Amino acid sequence: MNDQPIAVFDSGLGGLTVVRALQQHLPHETLVYFGDTARVPYGTKTSKTVLQFAVQNCDFLLRSEPKLIIVACNTASALALEDLIPRMPVPILGVVKPGAAEAVRQAAGRGIAVLATEATVASEAYPRAIHALDPNLPVAQRQCASLVSLIEEGRSSDDDILRRLLAEYLETVRRLDPAVVLLGCTHYPLVADAVEDLMPAAKVVDSAEATAMAARRQLAEMEALSPETHRGKLHCYVSDNPQRFREVGGRFLGRPIREVTWVTPEQFFHEHTLHPAS
Ligand code: DGL
Repeated sequence: MNDQPIAVFDSGLGGLTVVRALQQHLPHETLVYFGDTARVPYGTKTSKTVLQFAVQNCDFLLRSEPKLIIVACNTASALALEDLIPRMPVPILGVVKPGAAEAVRQAAGRGIAVLATEATVASEAYPRAIHALDPNLPVAQRQCASLVSLIEEGRSSDDDILRRLLAEYLETVRRLDPAVVLLGCTHYPLVADAVEDLMPAAKVVDSAEATAMAARRQLAEMEALSPETHRGKLHCYVSDNPQRFREVGGRFLGRPIREVTWVTPEQFFHEHTLHPAS
């Protein structure tokens, strides 16, 4: 038993879909979330920049003495996780491997379509993770550049513009006749219904959900689950605009967000921020 927190970071507020899944699967855990709202989006940035941001985000989160760090951002998991692992003094889990593993399980030998940001698609992290488990599975990827802003704007599964755009994005992966559509971006679970409607023959797999289950398994293996008497809590930190985070983030979390602390650059980029890779 271990009641230290689980630390979670994302490029902004999208990672609250992972927090929501964590709260469902691990209701007794304290969660500390950092949303890098000053530097979002990560989905159009280079690996070098995303790794630098990810190291700084983890460094900030390490101050809460977590037992596990979760990289909720698909882009950061795809571009930076491998380099982040050896730099961190605590176990660290990304969303790509759990999402890929669940997709492979559900695809049962048939094709997988991955929807993600530009940088995640370019990194090929999802096809690599899928092929590490089953080298013969057909995989198609599609970057859905505009979905993040439409979803943050409040457009949901029944919105006409969003559906038309999503239909266009899905057109390129349709040829594969996928058994699974894998939602490889923090925001897409909010429009999972539209994906299901537009691809009725495919199962929709959500990396956020798969990651929460993987985190539970990992903590159980580490014998580090919080005691059941412990009431789960959430503390949120952002690098900009806590007001917007509260307003828009509530939809991602599925409930109002009470406590949000704005971390100033002075607090955030303190000295000795980099943990050298060993
Ligand atoms: N959180 C990012 C992801 O899951 C989406 C937003 C961004 O581009 O930063 O890839």
